[in-house]
Amino acid sequence: MTKKKTFKRFLVTSALPYANGPIHIGHLAGAYLPADIYVRYRRLKGDDVKFICGSDEHGVPITIRARQEGISPQELVDRYHSLNKKTFEDIGISFDIYHRTSDPLHHKTAQEFFLRLYEQGILEERETEQYYDPEAKMFLADRYIVGTCPKCGYEKAYGDQCEKCGTALSPDELINPKSAITGSTPIKKKSKHWFFPLNKYEDWLRKWILEEHAKDWKPNVVGQCRSWLDQGLKPRAVTRDLDWGVPVPLPDAKGKVLYVWFEAPIGYISATKALAQQEGFDWRDYWQDQETAIIHFIGKDNIVFHCIIFPAMLKAHGDFSPPENVPANEFMNLEGDKISTSRNWAIWVHEYLQDFPNEQDLLRYVLTRNMPELKDSEFTWRDFQTKVNTELVGNLGNFIHRALTLIHRYFNSEVPYNPRDFVYDWISESKKSVEESIETFRFRDALWTVMELAQKGNQLLSEEEPWRVIKNEPEKAGQTLSDAIQIVAALNILMQPFLPFTAEKLKQILNINSLSWDILSQKPLIPKGHKANKPKQLFRKITDEEVERQIKKLKGDMQTQEQKQQGQQPESKPLIDYEDFSKLDLRVAKVISAEKHPNADRLLVLKISLGTEERTIVAGIAQHYSPEELVGKNIVVVANLKPRKLRGIESQGMLLAAHDSGKVILLTTDKDASPGAPVS
Ligand code: MF3
Ligand code: ZN
Repeated sequence: MTKKKTFKRFLVTSALPYANGPIHIGHLAGAYLPADIYVRYRRLKGDDVKFICGSDEHGVPITIRARQEGISPQELVDRYHSLNKKTFEDIGISFDIYHRTSDPLHHKTAQEFFLRLYEQGILEERETEQYYDPEAKMFLADRYIVGTCPKCGYEKAYGDQCEKCGTALSPDELINPKSAITGSTPIKKKSKHWFFPLNKYEDWLRKWILEEHAKDWKPNVVGQCRSWLDQGLKPRAVTRDLDWGVPVPLPDAKGKVLYVWFEAPIGYISATKALAQQEGFDWRDYWQDQETAIIHFIGKDNIVFHCIIFPAMLKAHGDFSPPENVPANEFMNLEGDKISTSRNWAIWVHEYLQDFPNEQDLLRYVLTRNMPELKDSEFTWRDFQTKVNTELVGNLGNFIHRALTLIHRYFNSEVPYNPRDFVYDWISESKKSVEESIETFRFRDALWTVMELAQKGNQLLSEEEPWRVIKNEPEKAGQTLSDAIQIVAALNILMQPFLPFTAEKLKQILNINSLSWDILSQKPLIPKGHKANKPKQLFRKITDEEVERQIKKLKGDMQTQEQKQQGQQPESKPLIDYEDFSKLDLRVAKVISAEKHPNADRLLVLKISLGTEERTIVAGIAQHYSPEELVGKNIVVVANLKPRKLRGIESQGMLLAAHDSGKVILLTTDKDASPGAPVS
């Protein structure tokens, strides 16, 4: 074993999620939950730790998505930045800051970084020839060129890869290439770009990763790095022709921005600076000091950027320390299939929070138990139910509740004795094992150790049966329960990183002030005579019905996809006279507010403005739009439809939407139009 290094400070980051979609359980299990557990643990130990994250708001996909929705990229990222920030807060991911890369401070930081490399003469200037969409007036990333695969003849191959046969391609190899954005034929155009000579850092990277960190980095991470290094590193362009992003800070670089993967990791630095301004510390202590451990939590698709490219950039810059560890996770699958945002095969965390209010820890528990630490893992609703019911309710909750209700019943919640010695042994073994596991990023093992301590507690109660013994040997029963409550207190501290909401509740019940890690070494943890409060159940069972509803919701979302693939067309209707049509009073309306229908999963309740009046509209679009994304939109409504009640709420009109094989797409206005304007 390598000698354990000690650090004065910790800077922990989680991958900055793209602000063009919501957060799903795969994100959570991959990069956010493990980081949060780690950080909470460090805080309990009293370590100096900063937990950094934020939205990654640039890049081509964001511009395309915004274009499709007819809004500006800034509007798009504003929407998801606030949704995701709130989702993380609500599920208990305890960032010290959730910053964003569209913030001016980030632009400045990224530009300064670029200039520093530029001024040291590190960047290479090159003329490149690239595909350009003359209609959209933009250069096309390889992904946005589609054409026929030269290997297998698949007609929708991408410029970087054919998804059918898996061949890696370059756009030049595609037969009949077309722009994926407008469908027009791309032309080649010359452009100047700046390249970072990654190849020059190969020797340093080899030594740093494959020698210095071969033992303390996770094998899946070292393995991927080795394969990248063995393939040989090439210079990489760090600029792009695009009008959305951080402008290249050079006079001859109009219309160019920094490549998103160049500037986004610098976002960690900008976010640290922003936090430093808020809290009044020196950000350099966390980035430029040997005694700080920088730890990046990411998913496996981000390994090359965090282990190879960004460290090489930091090295080239000169002032920064490379990360101490990059504990990347693999992927979590869902019900036997890859999680996919575009196919809507996902459990969205903000929806989980709506469906299971105040039950954050159930999801946190099951995701941690199945964390894809070394290989891909799987989430199923059935397994969620089993783990919650047998492990959280049946083991942890059951032990704590039994111990606390018995002590409440027989001793009025007052701890009668100090514990026996074996209790201290159990606790210190658990403590040591949890520490070792968390510090080596084995969160599943750490959590299991906590559960094992609860199991021991359960066994103690079952063997000594204080509820029976109390009649003839009250002292003996009192001893058992005193031992049990020490274990409950230890569990309260040990569970905190994993189940922070439950830990808080239990802390209230136990009536203790602090969950500091030191308490685990105290003898006793809770002194004789301490009085706890009346116990309450900490968890509840998940019913079959809930599981079935969630599976149906997931599959329901999926079916629409299958129908789409089959390309079903609705039957056409008979001809009508203009007179029939003119009976409709169609109007432009602006959405003022939107919320979920209290009694129906599929319905949203919208408040709309028709200029001179406001109305309520109930619409079956909850599976297709989040309330947040509707607010402010111009839509088209039938204003003279007789009002009717939908699940208890009167709908005063109907909105118009396209039904594209199961997908529902709202009709909006091409340009801004006044609410109330007639549509014909
Ligand atoms: N947005 C990227 C993703 O979701 C992660 C960016 S991490 C950063 O894959 F380091 F670049 F910020
Ligand atoms: Zn192919």
